[in-house]
Amino acid sequence: MIQQTPQPVLVVDFGAQYAQLIARRVREANLYSEVIPHTATAEDIQAKNPAALVLSGGPSSVYSEDAPSLDPEVFELGIPVFGICYGFQTMAQALGGTVAETGKREYGRTQLMIDGGALHEGETNMVWMSHGDAVTEAPAGFTVTASTNGAPVAAFENLEKKMAGVQYHPEVKHSPHGQEVLTRFLTEVAGLEPTWTAENIAEQLIDDVREQVGDGHAICGLSGGVDSAVAAAIVQRAIGDRLTCVFVDHGLLRKYERQQVETDFVAATDVRLITMDESEAFLAKLAGVSEPEAKRKAIGNEFIRAFERAVAQAMDGKEVEFLVQGTLYPDVVESGGGNGTSMIKSHHNVGGLPDDVEFKLVEPLRLLFKDEVRAVGRELGLPEAIVGRQPFPGPGLGIRIIGEVTKERLDLLRDADFIAREEMTAAGLDDQVWQCPVVLLADVRSVGVQGDFRTYGHPIVLRPVTSEDAMTADWARIPYEVLEKISTRITNEVEGVNRVVLDVTSKPPGTIEWE
Ligand code: XMP
Repeated sequence: MIQQTPQPVLVVDFGAQYAQLIARRVREANLYSEVIPHTATAEDIQAKNPAALVLSGGPSSVYSEDAPSLDPEVFELGIPVFGICYGFQTMAQALGGTVAETGKREYGRTQLMIDGGALHEGETNMVWMSHGDAVTEAPAGFTVTASTNGAPVAAFENLEKKMAGVQYHPEVKHSPHGQEVLTRFLTEVAGLEPTWTAENIAEQLIDDVREQVGDGHAICGLSGGVDSAVAAAIVQRAIGDRLTCVFVDHGLLRKYERQQVETDFVAATDVRLITMDESEAFLAKLAGVSEPEAKRKAIGNEFIRAFERAVAQAMDGKEVEFLVQGTLYPDVVESGGGNGTSMIKSHHNVGGLPDDVEFKLVEPLRLLFKDEVRAVGRELGLPEAIVGRQPFPGPGLGIRIIGEVTKERLDLLRDADFIAREEMTAAGLDDQVWQCPVVLLADVRSVGVQGDFRTYGHPIVLRPVTSEDAMTADWARIPYEVLEKISTRITNEVEGVNRVVLDVTSKPPGTIEWE
């Protein structure tokens, strides 16, 4: 999909995991950003007509033989440049400064001593460091504006050239003023206009889709999650009734999720929707299956079939050229980028569709991070229950029942999950918790007592976690009073459950889902 994006702030990736995070922080400063590899030449970079460059950190030493570096001509293009950590050192070196092994490594929280300049305010800041080498001499024309015990030159700037850099990591939350520093560089030093706002993004994406689809027809599968919902809403705004949404209810959804899609989402968007109730087909495929991979496979395969049946119904003899998908920018970066129009071939091994159906993909969110998708969704007036929804796995509650999946167990888990969500929301915890899987240990039973009766019921596990990207996570410190309320309500209201337990494992070593 060809998109009319604004001039990007290019984040040059020097390896390690920092570039994407920096790109997100640039977006938080309301500027459009893209990640590019450090192997990009000055010509490649110029062709993208960037508003500024941010050089990321990386794992290497500028001295090592295969140290990644940037085409030195890049610094001659007159583009504002901000260097971070390794990017700061490689910038210093390219511009004629000195980088040396000082023997003073710094890792973790470090005190930064500030000496004026445009980037920092005050006299000291706490910053997050992770370096062995250090810049010992700034390039000619650059002013040193901060230092630490281990880094004599911890920040420098040349306002005339609109270039600056810092040795620490402003992109991580452990540098509490980091976002301000990055924003100051972009808006004050580089002089960029912060125009990347939800309203502008939404407008632009709608225009782009209108251009791509022309007077064609499109289909979009809804999952109940935020990505497909926002993608569909954008496309609906662009092409109206020429979009048909299909929603496969696989019976593994949470309580009221189907109504949220069928009623609230449709009311908010006016989208044309076909719902397929496929829960019995899925339950039949899941009968007797308890091994997690086998379960995933059964659900995945059945989903393809059900989706194709739904698509065939939605097409209803019409020619439909486009398939809408909620692909996000992190997926694009991780799969190596690419701006071309992707194609997807429908699976031939299942019935329902003509053999040669080939869809062009419409991916209106392929430039966005998750928080931007939410902001655009709110801008488009989507229900908060959908826009604010926590991540939920495709195989749904199927992988949150440990043991065989049956209708009774699903109903039980739906009730327990609903209570947990209701109480967490009531306690105002939604913003602090990344997600909270509620898990039924269907294969475990233990003795309990309720009233005068012995019970032999199942435990429910609460798995609230905090996270930034689901790659790593920590268990969320939910207040005891909230846990108490959830536990009391679940054991009282959900028949068959006589214990509620809390998972206090980080990821790694645990995963977020149990399966
Ligand atoms: P784990 O359990 O691997 O989960 O720590 C990481 C994140 O991925 C979600 N998840 C899935 N999402 N389809 C999805 O769309 C899946 O099959 C799936 N499995 C796990 C999980 O909820 C968490 O956010």
